[in-house]
Amino acid sequence: MRLEQLRVRGLRCLTEVGVALDPGVNVFVGANGAGKTSVLEAAFLLSHARSFRSGAKEALLQRGASQLSIFAELRHADERVCRLGLGRGGVRWEAKLDGASVALGQLVGECAVVCFEPGSHGLIAGAAEERRRYLDWGVFHVEHGFLSTWRRYQRALKQRNSLLRAPSPPADELFAPWEAELAQAAEQIDRQRYSYLDRLRPKLRDGLAGLLPELGTFELRYRRGWSDELDLARQLREQRGKDIARGHTTLGAHRADWALTFEQAPLREHLSRGQEKLTALACLLAQAKLYAEQRGEWPIVCLDDLASELDLAHQTAVVSLLLAADAQVLLTGTELPAALQGLPARVFHVEQGELTRLL
Ligand SMILES: Nc1ncnc2c1ncn2[C@@H]1O[C@H](COP(=O)(O)OP(=O)(O)O)[C@@H](O)[C@H]1O
Ligand SMILES: [Mg+2]
Repeated sequence: MRLEQLRVRGLRCLTEVGVALDPGVNVFVGANGAGKTSVLEAAFLLSHARSFRSGAKEALLQRGASQLSIFAELRHADERVCRLGLGRGGVRWEAKLDGASVALGQLVGECAVVCFEPGSHGLIAGAAEERRRYLDWGVFHVEHGFLSTWRRYQRALKQRNSLLRAPSPPADELFAPWEAELAQAAEQIDRQRYSYLDRLRPKLRDGLAGLLPELGTFELRYRRGWSDELDLARQLREQRGKDIARGHTTLGAHRADWALTFEQAPLREHLSRGQEKLTALACLLAQAKLYAEQRGEWPIVCLDDLASELDLAHQTAVVSLLLAADAQVLLTGTELPAALQGLPARVFHVEQGELTRLL
């Protein structure tokens, strides 16, 4: 899939910009703070309804502006064109698809953007929440019904947590239905996550062999968030006393995690920062490749500050992989990265939130 037009209003330093994008490689060059990352952030928001940058959602809205909006024309591989819209005035996002208001889930289901950026090593070295998000994004795009199960799970979790925090411990009859619901949804989520990771492994193997051959073979371990030995409803019942003391549910699909270990780096701490970045990149590209295999088209790939994140050999490897796959690429840098010299690319100069096409 590819973005043909992208219009952004009121996002950080982007007051109002519109660009016609190339189906291949698009490069945004400019000084620090010019607004390059914000352009990628706009594309990413259409696909995630959240930023890849940490920090408050409120910071996305330009200071002094009352409304943030992003519009795009997206062309799918089968030539179908959709008009995507995402806006935020007050606290809520509003999504539009071909002019009609839709649920956020429908918008993000239409548009897939994968982003490698300076914070991406957090996927390997950061909190479990990031790894769950990564996993669930993949599952969401390839498994039907994942979102509704996930919502059902969140609702039951919220109910159980509020019972845990009740001033006097509620009776078993109040807990039991929510725990049953929680367990049932968790098992479904777990099955889908598990089978997704199974399909991801071969893609990851190829990617890691190309980017990090020195680390040897790898293992991808998944923990589902509760013990394999007993069913979750029973574990939740047995855990209730401890959970009351802690004030939240300590077992379940919201505690899942996964990790990669390598033959030559059995502990995460054995990886250098650069190796964490390359591992994260391999994970993102594997996810994009699996998406392409299952959905028949590549997601849009954003590479923020590529030249400062990777050495030239790895930049070249990534760029040639994406060119061969015919994926649309949005890339930023303080200058045109050496890996792109001589390759076809549309180049934009970014300065104080304004975009000018150079090539
Ligand atoms: N809410 C906001 N309102 C106005 N400007 C903002 C807001 N948030 C960030 N900025 C400014 O927007 C710019 C962000 O640019 P960014 O896209 O990170 O630049 P680059 O990637 O080119 O370094 C910075 O100059 C920053 O100060
Ligand atoms: Mg930047």
